[in-house]
Amino acid sequence: MAVTRRQFITGLALGGAAAGIGVPYVLGVAGATSTGRYLASRAPLPQPFTQRLRIPPVLAPVRSDGDGDHYEITQRVATAEILPGVSTTIWGYNGIFPGPTIESRSGRTISVTHINQLPVPTVVHLHGGRTPPEHDGYPIDFVLPVGRDVPLPVYAQESGDLSQGQRVHWYPQEQPATTLWYHDHRMDFTGPGVWKGLAGFHIIRDDEEDALGLPSGPRELPLMIVDRSFDLDGSLLYPAIDPTGLVGVGVTDGFEAGVLGDVTLVNGVPWPVVDVEAARYRLRLLNASNARRYDIRLDPPPPDGFVQIGTDGGLLAQPLQHDHIEMAPAQRFDVIVDFSAYQPGTVVTLVNDFDSGRMGQVMRFVVGDRAEDNSRIPDRLTTIEPLDTTSDGVITRTMRFNSGHLRSEDRDRHGWLINGEPFSPDVAAARPALDSVEIWRLVSDFHHPIHVHLNPFQVLSRGLDGPGPYDIGWKDTIDLRPFENAAIAVRFDGFRGRYVFHCHNLEHEDMAMMSNFVVT
Ligand code: C2O
Ligand code: CU
Repeated sequence: MAVTRRQFITGLALGGAAAGIGVPYVLGVAGATSTGRYLASRAPLPQPFTQRLRIPPVLAPVRSDGDGDHYEITQRVATAEILPGVSTTIWGYNGIFPGPTIESRSGRTISVTHINQLPVPTVVHLHGGRTPPEHDGYPIDFVLPVGRDVPLPVYAQESGDLSQGQRVHWYPQEQPATTLWYHDHRMDFTGPGVWKGLAGFHIIRDDEEDALGLPSGPRELPLMIVDRSFDLDGSLLYPAIDPTGLVGVGVTDGFEAGVLGDVTLVNGVPWPVVDVEAARYRLRLLNASNARRYDIRLDPPPPDGFVQIGTDGGLLAQPLQHDHIEMAPAQRFDVIVDFSAYQPGTVVTLVNDFDSGRMGQVMRFVVGDRAEDNSRIPDRLTTIEPLDTTSDGVITRTMRFNSGHLRSEDRDRHGWLINGEPFSPDVAAARPALDSVEIWRLVSDFHHPIHVHLNPFQVLSRGLDGPGPYDIGWKDTIDLRPFENAAIAVRFDGFRGRYVFHCHNLEHEDMAMMSNFVVT
C-alpha cells in the first residue's frame, strides 16, 4: 500500500511566509520565550505540587557477554495515570513514560533491541550518541509494527532500511560520561511520537567522572521536563492532521510554529514534589518538550544558584554558576544544587520565568534534615581542547533556518526549511571529510534549537559576541534565537556515512526543517 511521495516544490519567501506561520507565541522577542502556540487542555488539571516525583526505573540488561551488555525494549500502547485518578493512553518504551533509563559505561558496547508493538512504524535515535550510521535511527529506517500491515510512504519503501517487528541498535559508546536520551525519530511523525511518550534517559558514566566525587546515588536525579495537554477523556491532546499517525503529515493550522502544552510534567508527573535532604544534589535536567523553552530558577535562590558541571556532550572543564538557566528543546544541563544552604523545612520551587501562572512553575523540593555529605565539586572537571578552526582549509558553511512554503501534490502548507530546502533523504547540505573540523554559520528567523547528529560541537560566537552563558562545553543542540547568526565548530569523526541535522522543535522537524550531512 503506497502513499504519495512527499514531493515539494519550494517557494521560499522569508518574512512574507513567516508572517503567515500560525501565531508565533510572543513573536520577535529575541532571547525570550518560545516559538509555538498554546494548546489548552480540556481536562480538569490538578493543583501544582500535589503529586510525588517519580524516577524512571533503570533497565537491566537481558544478558551480558564478551560483546557487551544487551537490552530489550518493547514499544507499546499502555495506560498511565498522569493526571491523578485519570487514565491516559500513552505510547511507551516498555509501556512507560519516560521510558526506562539505560545506565552504561563509556567504551563498553551495548545493544538495544527495540520491538515495535505500536500501531505505526517507529525509529529510535540515541540523541547525542556517537553512533554508526546504520544504528543512528535514520528517519526512514523504519521498524515496522509486529503483525500489522501499515501503509508505507514511497520514500521509505524506496530507500529506507526497513526491519520487520524489531531492530537491534549497537552503541559503541566511545564517548565520555554524559546524559543522553533516546526518542522516536520517524520522518514526518517525530512530534506526535514523542508527545505520546516515546522518550527516555540514557546515561553514560566513566572513571574520570566517578573520581570527581560528585553527588550520586539517591542524590542524583534525572529530570525530564516536558509540557503536554490533555483532552476531556484524559487522552493526550495533539493537533495532528492525521490522528492515526500514518499518512497525513504535520499539525493543523495555527500550530505549525510548535505545540505548547499547558501542563508541566517532570518524569511524567504534573508539577511534582520531591523530598530532599539538606545536602548537595546532582540534577540531570533535560528539556524533552516538543517546542517549549524554559528559563528555570530556584525560588528562594540558594547562594550558589545552579552550579553547572555538564551539558549535552559531557562535563564542563570547570563548574559554572548560574542564577537561572535557559533550556531549549533537547538540551541537557547537569547541575549541582546545594540544599544544605536552606533551613530544614524550606520549600524550594523550580520556576520557569518564560511563562507565568501554572506554566511558570515546574516542580518543588522540600528540604529535610541536614545529612552527611561527602560530595565535592572540584574546580577542574575535565579537559576540553578548543577545536582548531584557524588552520588552512577549514571549511565554513552557512545554514539558514527559515519558515517557508511547502507545496505537495494535494495541498499547500506552511513549513520549515534549511537553505530553502525541505528535508529529503537524497539531498545533503554538507559532505565533510572524516576527521575534518568545519565551521557552520547558523542563521535563523525564529527560535530554532539546532541539533547535529554524530558529533558534539563548540559554540564559537553569537552575532558579534562570543558564546552565551548556556553555550559552554560540548553541545549537541544550540538554542538559536530569532534573527541570530551563530557559529559552531564541529569535528566530524567516528564514522563515515549519512546523518541528519535538524531543528529540534519537533513540529519544525516534522514539517521538513531537517537535512543530511554525509561524512566522507
Ligand atoms: Cu533528539 Cu535528531 O534528535
Ligand atoms: Cu525550528
